[in-house]
Amino acid sequence: MNGAMVFCGTVVHSTKNEYMTILEDTVIGVHHGKIIFIDEPGNVRTLLQAHNIDEDCVKHLGKHQFLVPGLIDTHAHAPQYPNCGKGLDSGLLEWLEKYTFPTEAKCQDPEYALEMYTRTVNCLLRYGTTTASYFATIHYKSSTVLCDVIEKMGQRAFVGKVNMDTNSPDFYVEDTDESLKETERFIQNVIGRKNNLLKPIVTPRFAITCSMKLMSELGKISRKYDIPIQTHLSESLNECEAVKKLFPEFANYTSVYQEAGLITKKTILAHAVHLSDCEMALLKANGAGISHCPNSNISLRSGLLDAQRVISCGIKIGLGTDISGGYSCSMLDAMRMALGVSNVNSIIRQNYQPIDYKQAFMMATLGGSRVLGLEDVTGNFEVGKDFDALVVDAMTESSLAGVEDCDTMEDIIQKFIYLGDDRNIIEVYVAGRRVV
Ligand code: GUN
Ligand code: FE
Repeated sequence: MNGAMVFCGTVVHSTKNEYMTILEDTVIGVHHGKIIFIDEPGNVRTLLQAHNIDEDCVKHLGKHQFLVPGLIDTHAHAPQYPNCGKGLDSGLLEWLEKYTFPTEAKCQDPEYALEMYTRTVNCLLRYGTTTASYFATIHYKSSTVLCDVIEKMGQRAFVGKVNMDTNSPDFYVEDTDESLKETERFIQNVIGRKNNLLKPIVTPRFAITCSMKLMSELGKISRKYDIPIQTHLSESLNECEAVKKLFPEFANYTSVYQEAGLITKKTILAHAVHLSDCEMALLKANGAGISHCPNSNISLRSGLLDAQRVISCGIKIGLGTDISGGYSCSMLDAMRMALGVSNVNSIIRQNYQPIDYKQAFMMATLGGSRVLGLEDVTGNFEVGKDFDALVVDAMTESSLAGVEDCDTMEDIIQKFIYLGDDRNIIEVYVAGRRVV
């Protein structure tokens, strides 16, 4: 069989029933980018024969190597990449005015965007992010440039042209009708590419910079094209106060979006740190998901999300880097930060059970795929899903994540999550195509 790949070795993933399953001595078969079997190695010969696959297609993973699903970043601002690691001296609203809007405004120039987006997507792929949900900018042209770059590099992604028509600086704001027109033009552009890996997403920035008319019309557009929605919700207390002042007739922040038709089963809400029980119930009832962005929440001092509460409410939850509110593009960092935030919650509260590294791993993989509505396509190694995967080597020559002889496979995987970096990610696949 042409174009087939078979991996033999340790496979780590989340399943419906377990946050993490470690399958030592496993074989995974891939054909046309999809997983065609996952089984025990004793059956390798039979499997190869049954699927008419040549022995040459078999790859044996080394002693400290294993396969994990491609990592899923459910919330990233691609145009903010140049701002990563600087300007974190103020809280959210001041930070947006002072650093974020001026940085994004540079994408007025598509040539700048091309060079910058190429570095951004390359960085995410290097770190093992096979799927990302991106905010671009308000500019139609540069948003299509981000799509060009993603297509060329082979990442799986959602891309949204950002909408903002009020409470924004003169140099970075849209007219409401123009914003809607350009959004439809962008959506049609992305759909017209007929690329299965790349999808448009409706992207009102947040309630402060969007009029009710704009948000409601965007809700209609998402229904017209049957596409998802992403926005920010309840990130910082100052932001929540500002929303209360702008929309005094609503009971809470979430209700503002609900009124606009933006709270759906295809909605990704970034942050959602300061939600009341009533708002949580609204999200649950409508099937919306949360993108937990712990690095950002700590770096901008926005607050401490209670991820355990979200999980126990049965609300979908994934992790996001939120570059550049979060300073790191790495989903390994997002997992560690999620563990750190949860540990802080356990220190400041009584009887609080923090999340463990297996839950963090689930949020970075299968959880993310659920939030993005891609659970039938990616997130773990089930037969029929696309092969989005990383080959990890926990002990490369250049890597600091030392492995001791006494370490079990579970120890090695923990070391990768806590200490690993891009040097340990030696191969990256999206739908069976090697992209790094
Ligand atoms: N809220 C509205 N816009 C943004 C943004 O760009 N980053 C973050 N972290 N929060 C936001
Ligand atoms: Fe964000």
